Amino acid sequence: MSSMSSYAPSASDKFAFGVWCVMNRGRDPFGDVTRRPIDALKAVRGLAERGAWGFEFHDNDIFPIGASAARVRRTMSELKKIMRDTGIRCCSGTTNLFYHPVFKDGAFTSNDPKVRAYAVQKVMNAIDLAAELGAQNFLFWGGREGAEVDFAKDPVVSAKRFRDALNFLCAYVRQNRYAMTFTIEPKPNEPRGDMYLPSVGNALAFIATLDKANQKMVGVNPEVAHIKMAGLNPYHEFAQAIEAGRLFELHLNDQKPVRYDQDLAFGSADLKECFFIVKLMVDHRFDGIKAFDCHPYRTEDEDGVWDFVERNMRTYKILEEKVHEANQNRELCALLEEIRAGDKAFDGLYRRFTPAAARKLKGIRFDPDRLARGRKLAYEKLDQLLTELLLGVR
Ligand code: NOJ
Ligand code: MG
Repeated sequence: MSSMSSYAPSASDKFAFGVWCVMNRGRDPFGDVTRRPIDALKAVRGLAERGAWGFEFHDNDIFPIGASAARVRRTMSELKKIMRDTGIRCCSGTTNLFYHPVFKDGAFTSNDPKVRAYAVQKVMNAIDLAAELGAQNFLFWGGREGAEVDFAKDPVVSAKRFRDALNFLCAYVRQNRYAMTFTIEPKPNEPRGDMYLPSVGNALAFIATLDKANQKMVGVNPEVAHIKMAGLNPYHEFAQAIEAGRLFELHLNDQKPVRYDQDLAFGSADLKECFFIVKLMVDHRFDGIKAFDCHPYRTEDEDGVWDFVERNMRTYKILEEKVHEANQNRELCALLEEIRAGDKAFDGLYRRFTPAAARKLKGIRFDPDRLARGRKLAYEKLDQLLTELLLGVR
């Protein structure tokens, strides 16, 4: 068992938080705020003091709509000073395209061309701010891109409108020589009844339809809670993004499946599932941004907000230790070796199609009954061993 301090975050963890998580005041659709405000600059400083490597922000978390140029400059220089003094970086920026009533029926996918133009202009301005702060990634969460009344919006047209916006903005980034990637953050619903690009698979398929020159700079930043709202498995969703080479950033939190967006702290709902998320990142050496995107409970005051910040990173680090223990555990390794064994002679038989390979494969006589009996798959034992390791009795 490691000492308490060995779970302290370090820069190489690349842990980040949305400033909006710290600024969240506990308002929900049924109840008003429950704690005093923490402004963005204080949030950034507080995150740095707790060992976070980075922060991310929506344009309006820091710069209100309509802020004068002088105010923007003043805030910018205060923020840069905090970044210089503490070493925290701005890793990602994004645009608030969901709060103002102008976006009540969508931003990029609004039926109104003027709203769409305003949305794209707002993103260009937000990209400029994020680039000035050194952000390496820019997020696209389609908060209001969706519908309740399907008669009103053609989803095929909406996809084209979304694509036009993204293609244009990719070109804008290149024209300005900003070293910045884009990520799409899927979500199935909330705040819209149904949202476009609801899962990682949808987002990956959409990215493949962007202009060729833009495809490389666009990936995904899936969020655990959003995946579980759709009833899907975060381990598998993140894995598909890794395999496609498109996982640029994580949005970590937790959630009970198929419910409203709970935005719980990482590891607070399903520890075993979070273990597998961390395992995936360790096993595949994920080196991107690990941002926590969740909210402190409504019951907390400011101290509780900082407890929340610390617990997210700490849980990740503890699970990381558990992953290393599991990966080195002799019994687990022996079981896995047995489970994953097989006749290597059959490996790669169809890796590349040739008429000879097809003839060879067709000519093999398989005995499926024998094959089925061939090997023991001791999954009960495997899962119990892991359970005991996670529960700390091994
Ligand atoms: C708020 C959403 O709840 C969150 O999941 C998303 O990552 C950010 N906005 C960024 O757009
Ligand atoms: Mg998120």
